[in-house]
Amino acid sequence: YDYDLLVVGSANADLVIGVERRPGPGETVLGSDLAVHPGGKGGNQAVAAARLGARTALLARVGDDAHGRLLLDAQRAAGVDTAGVLRGGAPTGVALITVDPSGDNSIVVSPGANARLSPRDVRDAADLLRSARVVSAQLEIPLETVAEVVRTTAPGTRFVLNPSPPVELPAGILAACDPLILNEHEARVVLEGPAGDGRTDGERTGGGPVGDGRTGGGPVGDDPREWARALLALGPRSVVITLGARGALVADGVTTELVEPVRVRAVDTTGAGDAFTAALAWRLGTGAGLADAARYAARVGAAAVTREGAQASFPTAAEVAALGGAVREAGGR
Ligand code: RIB
Ligand code: NA
Repeated sequence: YDYDLLVVGSANADLVIGVERRPGPGETVLGSDLAVHPGGKGGNQAVAAARLGARTALLARVGDDAHGRLLLDAQRAAGVDTAGVLRGGAPTGVALITVDPSGDNSIVVSPGANARLSPRDVRDAADLLRSARVVSAQLEIPLETVAEVVRTTAPGTRFVLNPSPPVELPAGILAACDPLILNEHEARVVLEGPAGDGRTDGERTGGGPVGDGRTGGGPVGDDPREWARALLALGPRSVVITLGARGALVADGVTTELVEPVRVRAVDTTGAGDAFTAALAWRLGTGAGLADAARYAARVGAAAVTREGAQASFPTAAEVAALGGAVREAGGR
């Protein structure tokens, strides 16, 4: 394989404003100076993996504009192979992000060129897809493009999906995921369908009880172990549910294990989930087991929340190792 990881996904310019609190409908609040950072869940994953030392490539689409150049420069500076990044068709994707004093963010994405990354683009990049040990995708690009990724990926290549932003997923994509990586909100949407979508049960695309092999099946309880079981029943070979301060639950149908959280002071959580996913995907490709890969990924995600921005905050392997020492010391007290 030429690449440890190929990321297929979005690249956005992140327009970030710090706020004391978010405005309600019809309200205006004043925030910090504007910061423009390279982002997008796909771009973030690629930079995170490359910074850890993985041989990484990105298949994405950006606009023929200044934001597109900013994103390409950031990828190249991190050592990502950008030969698969296509240009044009629409403006570069933009994410409008507010970050509050606790480090939590709210994000509105204008997909722009990301929405034009097509199944045909994937077929044209078939050689690239087949030259990667692990292929990772998210859902800021069209679902049919992700489905084409699944069809085009070589049988020996591992496929990892973070269904974010979440939708109900077709069986063909679900069956390929090893693992499906998602947070609590994403797990709920995959299992229950979009909350408050105004449709009656009969109109739901995946109506029916949880565990019947279709997504959007109906309400689930509060126990993440229950979600893991219900998610596995939908077809993925393994599942990782990130639980914030409670760590992450990993399950592969044989074992289920809770991976402890790494406690740090949060400054900006933007992109930490992407760094977690990229680190996990890369470690799995090196032969690590699911729980070990998730433990490593938790340290990568923790390092990312201690610094501002998404890509700028991602650690090198040496920084992850140093954090591991700090965490052990803190735990020993
Ligand atoms: O996951 C964080 C990312 O989501 C941001 O970088 C933003 O671009 C949005 O895609
Ligand atoms: Na960060």
